[in-house]
Amino acid sequence: MQNQKKMSHLSALSLAAFLTIAAMPSHADAPYTVTNDGKALDSNSYQGYTVFRQWCARCHGTFGQGSPKAPNLAESLATLSHQEYTKTVTSGQVSPARKVTKSGRMPAWKRNGTVMKNADNIYSYLKARADGAIGTVSPQLGQ
Ligand code: HEC
Repeated sequence: MQNQKKMSHLSALSLAAFLTIAAMPSHADAPYTVTNDGKALDSNSYQGYTVFRQWCARCHGTFGQGSPKAPNLAESLATLSHQEYTKTVTSGQVSPARKVTKSGRMPAWKRNGTVMKNADNIYSYLKARADGAIGTVSPQLGQ
């Protein structure tokens, strides 16, 4: 009798723990790791940031925050799937509404080996921005 009571108490506890974890706004499947109070990135995401700076920032802003030339990718990546992201980066994008503007267009990067090799790393960086895990700060290389 004593034992049985203990058991049900335990399972109630683990159920509560499970529910707490399930309800947390967790980014358990996040492709990045942010440390040092939101200032440092894992090496893949950090690499993504450096390639982003080199090839993407001139239109999308230093931290992907957007510019008059191109949209805020911290916002885009909140809804864009990884697959849609990869398709846009590979083949470019001209939305009908933008076709006749002078704001520039999203180039196709399929012939740029550096960008294509790092497309997933750039995605990881932008996802960290979209999730608010890192802000508009120059990241450090963590771990
Ligand atoms: C010459 C300017 C320019 C450069 C450089 C550039 N982009 Fe873009 N990008 C754009 C424009 C303009 C759009 C909006 C296109 C549209 O919707 O017509 C865009 C759209 C996107 C989108 C889709 C956003 C959405 O909400 O649909 C992604 C993702 C993206 N760019 C990623 C990148 C990445 C990654 C790089 C660097 C490898 C990059 N861009 C470099 C101009 C640029």
